[in-house]
Amino acid sequence: MGRLAYVNGRFVPHPQARVHVEDRGYQFADGVYEVVPVANGRLVDEELHLDRLDRSLAELRIGWPMSRAALRLVSHELIRRNGLANGIVYVQVTRGVAPRDHKFPKGVKPALVMTTKQLKRASPAVLAQGLKVVTVPDIRWQRRDIKSISLLPNCLAKQQAFEAGATEAWMVEPGGYVTEGSSTNAWIVTGEGKVVTRKANHEILNGITRQVLLKVMAEEGIVLDERPFSVEEAYKAREAFLTSSSNFVMPVTEIDGRPIGNGHPGLVTQRLRRSYLATFGLDEEAA
Ligand code: PDD
Repeated sequence: MGRLAYVNGRFVPHPQARVHVEDRGYQFADGVYEVVPVANGRLVDEELHLDRLDRSLAELRIGWPMSRAALRLVSHELIRRNGLANGIVYVQVTRGVAPRDHKFPKGVKPALVMTTKQLKRASPAVLAQGLKVVTVPDIRWQRRDIKSISLLPNCLAKQQAFEAGATEAWMVEPGGYVTEGSSTNAWIVTGEGKVVTRKANHEILNGITRQVLLKVMAEEGIVLDERPFSVEEAYKAREAFLTSSSNFVMPVTEIDGRPIGNGHPGLVTQRLRRSYLATFGLDEEAA
């Protein structure tokens, strides 16, 4: 049996999964989403993702399309039916289907779509090499803390990275400071061994990987400097890395064509990746 999607109350074959042309997500990007990692058939940090979904919905005054418990059941069922071992569950909630009108419709039920995607674990070759990043101006709106499906600037940034032979774009605000990646949070390790990443406020998405990694660092006594860093500082950093639900902790070894540190994944980055994966029982070296 082929892959299934969940669309507004029904499990349907993925190729036939459809939403209405007047879904406000389609017309206005009036919705939010979550990407929850799945490792060995189990959701990783599911409750933290549901907490963030709750927050995004509340910020936009969109209701839950079903109870939190029901949504949990549906995602578990989708993973089971699709036989997903490693990858992600995508959850999207929009304000619903209504005649096109900018202001909020009354009495409309939020629309829910869920899909799964199988992802290969990062290969040893990619992990040994690290990723290339380019920097681009951050042209997004001022509420990047909301996980909105309005991702056009992120798509443009990622495409620019791809066309430059890189994997990710780090977006830069007018003052020359990095905000975050197009779909990842951005980190550096300074010459003194301090890990630097921005504070989570309206300017970035508070990544779940980021949140869990901060806890791991505190437990391991790794020094954190939670502040913005400039592109110039990143060029001179000893190490750089990025985090997200689909990348976990990934070394960055080149920014705008310049090697970072010695051009190889750094020791702090490698250690943090191992420790992060251990939070859900994954041991890459043993795998
Ligand atoms: N992206 N910053 C942005 C702009 C993101 O889109 C994401 C996630 C992150 C990292 O968040 P988390 O650790 O919770 O995945 C940071 C997802 C994976 C995506 O859009 O596919």
